[in-house]
Amino acid sequence: DPTVFKFYSDGEWKRSTSGKLVSIINPTTRKTQYKVQACTQEEVNKIIEAAKTAQKSWAKTPLWKRAELLHKAAAILKEHRAPIAECLVKEIAKPAKDAVTEAVRSGDLVSYCAEEGVRILGEGKFLVSDSFPGNERTKYCLTSKGRLSCLLPSQIFEEWSPLLFMRDIAMMIPLGVVLAIPPFNYPVNLAVSKIAPALIAGNSIVLKPPTQGAVAALHMVHCFHLAGFPKGLISCVTGKGSEIGDFLTMHPGVSCISFTGGDTGIAISKKAGMIPLQMELGGKDACIILEDGDLDLAAANIIKGGFSYSGQRCTAVKVILIMESVADTLVEKVKAKVAKLTVGPPEDDCDITPVVTESSANFIEGLVMDAKQKGATFCQEYKREGNLIWPLLLDNVRPDMRIAWEEPFGPVLPVIRINSIEEAIHHSNASNFGLQGCIFTRDINKAILISDAMETGTVQINSAPARGPDHFPFQGLKDSGIGSQGITNSINMMTKIKSTVINLP
Ligand code: G3P
Repeated sequence: DPTVFKFYSDGEWKRSTSGKLVSIINPTTRKTQYKVQACTQEEVNKIIEAAKTAQKSWAKTPLWKRAELLHKAAAILKEHRAPIAECLVKEIAKPAKDAVTEAVRSGDLVSYCAEEGVRILGEGKFLVSDSFPGNERTKYCLTSKGRLSCLLPSQIFEEWSPLLFMRDIAMMIPLGVVLAIPPFNYPVNLAVSKIAPALIAGNSIVLKPPTQGAVAALHMVHCFHLAGFPKGLISCVTGKGSEIGDFLTMHPGVSCISFTGGDTGIAISKKAGMIPLQMELGGKDACIILEDGDLDLAAANIIKGGFSYSGQRCTAVKVILIMESVADTLVEKVKAKVAKLTVGPPEDDCDITPVVTESSANFIEGLVMDAKQKGATFCQEYKREGNLIWPLLLDNVRPDMRIAWEEPFGPVLPVIRINSIEEAIHHSNASNFGLQGCIFTRDINKAILISDAMETGTVQINSAPARGPDHFPFQGLKDSGIGSQGITNSINMMTKIKSTVINLP
């Protein structure tokens, strides 16, 4: 059956011994599109054992060889963009062009990561003790980010101590087995953003893709398989979160978890052991527009930021905070642009496509009905067919409405009218989230002051929130996450510095 997919373990494609499958429902047709294996805890154990073994020799593989394999995987990933994009269209209703972009962007990310890894991991540091008060020059500290296996020139050391002749200082330690859990909205890009840094740094990878998007992720893993990575170094386990979720995240063989998604991340971080965590858990990104803001620019960015991929992005604009004096003009401009958005199937590359699941559509509808009951102004008629929800701008939203605080993860955008900058900052900071925010103003001084006051990981001045380019730091404050992502930060997070101190007689 071509719609049933195997999981990937020890360099091979396998059927689960459970004999059970998990169905992936096409959000557009609401019919089963694919099925993946419902893996067992025993299969997870085998995968983690293999990952531990493979990691040991991978950590000794020269950096340039690791980078070479990643470049190869990146090229294959780009070659396979069409079948990967097809899965993204069928599994998560991503518009056709955006689906291709995700595959290509992922290849670029892997290549950049290989290059960045060579630079970062190739660096070392040499510290001397007498630069700190009270110390003589009796200690030398060598630190390295990559495994340093080197012969240091003996003449340097002879100058300081004839006793010293250094060779083979193996300093740095990757973390071990990295567990990567990407979300449904970027099942390929947010998988490779975890996989590539982990691998270049000498770790092994266990990937648990989301159910919606699992086949796209398996196809991406196939590209790494074709590139020729050692057996067991990369595995992909599919199945029900209820059966293998906690088992994976609490597994003693896992040394690091990189997760992107919703509230589950909070539960994971409470249950995980004493291991590094990288978490990105959503946001309620505010778009603050001041009187002197370029309203055309703001309206264009609200459409892009609020409605691309039907609002199913953590970094989507999720609330507009607009100065009352310019609110009518801005709302009219946004309304005119909303009217031009195309609504329909992802295959036709429509702007607004069905949201990922029926329960997601029901949740969005719940927020809309709550706002209606409490008196929000509907700029368009609310319309829904199955999982497809037409884009909706809700004006005059007040703080007692759920949509003022909760993230719909859908094409519904609230407008809150404000009378001062303080009011805008207060609303933005009262959110439990703190991912990103944006400000539209021509006054750069004001923009910087507002940015400083906003409790978010990133503030964009005169543009919509966005994670990319993928090498930029990406982090959330408060319930939006732990740690910082972006290629460089992920490589750093997935390594540990080890020092070797030379004590002189
Ligand atoms: O929702 C996931 C988040 O990472 C969004 O990324 O690139 O659409 O800003 P991006």
